[in-house]
Amino acid sequence: PLPRPYTLPFTVPPVLAPARSDAAGDHYEIVQRAAKVELLPGVPTEIWGYNGIFPGPTIVSRSGRPAVVRHRNELPVPVVVHLHGGRTPSSDDGYPTDLLMPVGAPAGQGDHMSGSHAGRMSDPAASISTGERDYRYPLRQRSATLWYHDHRMDFTGPSVWRGLAGFHLVGNAEEDALPLPRDDRDLPLMIADRAFGDDGSLLYPSLDPTLARPGVQAAYGSGVLGDVILVNGVPWPLAEVSATRHRLRLLNASNARRYRLALDPPPPGGGGLVQIGTDGGLLERPVRHDAIDLAPAQRYDVVVDFGAYRVGQEVTLINQFGTGSTEDVMRFRVARSGRDDTRIPDRLSRIPGLRPADALVTRTMRFQHDDVHGMAGWTINGQPFAPGLVHARARLDSVEIWRLTSDFHHPVHLHLAPFQVLSRGNSGPGPYDLGWKDTLDLRPAEQATIIVRFDGYTGRYVFHCHNLEHEDMAMMGNLVVF
Ligand code: C2O
Ligand code: CU
Repeated sequence: PLPRPYTLPFTVPPVLAPARSDAAGDHYEIVQRAAKVELLPGVPTEIWGYNGIFPGPTIVSRSGRPAVVRHRNELPVPVVVHLHGGRTPSSDDGYPTDLLMPVGAPAGQGDHMSGSHAGRMSDPAASISTGERDYRYPLRQRSATLWYHDHRMDFTGPSVWRGLAGFHLVGNAEEDALPLPRDDRDLPLMIADRAFGDDGSLLYPSLDPTLARPGVQAAYGSGVLGDVILVNGVPWPLAEVSATRHRLRLLNASNARRYRLALDPPPPGGGGLVQIGTDGGLLERPVRHDAIDLAPAQRYDVVVDFGAYRVGQEVTLINQFGTGSTEDVMRFRVARSGRDDTRIPDRLSRIPGLRPADALVTRTMRFQHDDVHGMAGWTINGQPFAPGLVHARARLDSVEIWRLTSDFHHPVHLHLAPFQVLSRGNSGPGPYDLGWKDTLDLRPAEQATIIVRFDGYTGRYVFHCHNLEHEDMAMMGNLVVF
């Protein structure tokens, strides 16, 4: 029942209105539940969705104004919510064993479940809630494109695949003062691949489809890929746009797929993807790209000037890393002319460089394929994730250099603190490494160094590979800030 590419209309996820706002911030309510939705024309697909939709509703916040999100779990399994890119106190960061149990789950079940997976050690420090809980996000951070998604230990891959992901955008006055495209010319694009059965069901190769036990079938140990590319939950959509500049907030929410996105045809002169921002918000200056490499969890904010095309022309966003159906992503039809008083200023923001001379500690983290409890898995420095096993203890406000090495593609993500890329191999940062990053696209046999200041909050956090199957197969470490 797959649609032909570029026949279904592009949509943007709805913005969630606060249930109330007061001096403490904006209060939101989200119910996580199973729902039947129409992802493919004419066939219902069962998803797990925030408010029963995929993507979940978009939360729009302002820097420094707290958002308090009450999550209610009406799913049949425990959940954990993480705000990816958020500078969040440890208690609200969605630590992988801080489970929110389903509504009506018997008391005490969480303590059991947090320790039952794969014979891992139990986690006496886990904070378990049942039914509902509030996640408090102070959002003392720059304007940026953040996203929220499930983060339960051992089950992030299947949970996100079923639909537990949404945008959380943070804006501020600095950004508002820039003459960039906004409102209906500011489009979030959640790009995610999925596979469907003939009955419309989402296919995920879990060893145990009830998700009582973790693991994917051996053939998928490197990551689960799908043959259908969804943008905001629609397979290969078609967007009608005016011949004006548009801001596209690209998010790769795929479990394991990397993309090389390009415009086809490129605008005259090339450089049609003008990058203005990344994971951690605006760059200092715009950077023109012909193509952008996008690893799982990464965000790139780009401006595309559809005024460089003729009215009536079609422009396709293609994936040069894809083959067959995964070469197609979405299409824009330049439907009409339009007034455009936007501009891309030469100076977007200021990013103070972290200085290697200020680093107190240099650590090496090896991301590699490994034996995990007698099964094939993935580790960091040979150690599979376990709640009590600390990979790094960092002093609050200290600067550290981390040298990351890799045997495969590993999108390396740090919670709490954004970082800057110092080098890749023997050269400086790559073309997609500029600005504040929270996820680095580490490639096979590569070494990269990053510099990071662990400020904001103390407590336990994780860092991990954001290939979600690698993450679930233990490629995650504890980072304790003290
Ligand atoms: Cu996007 Cu630890 O996650
Ligand atoms: Cu990995």
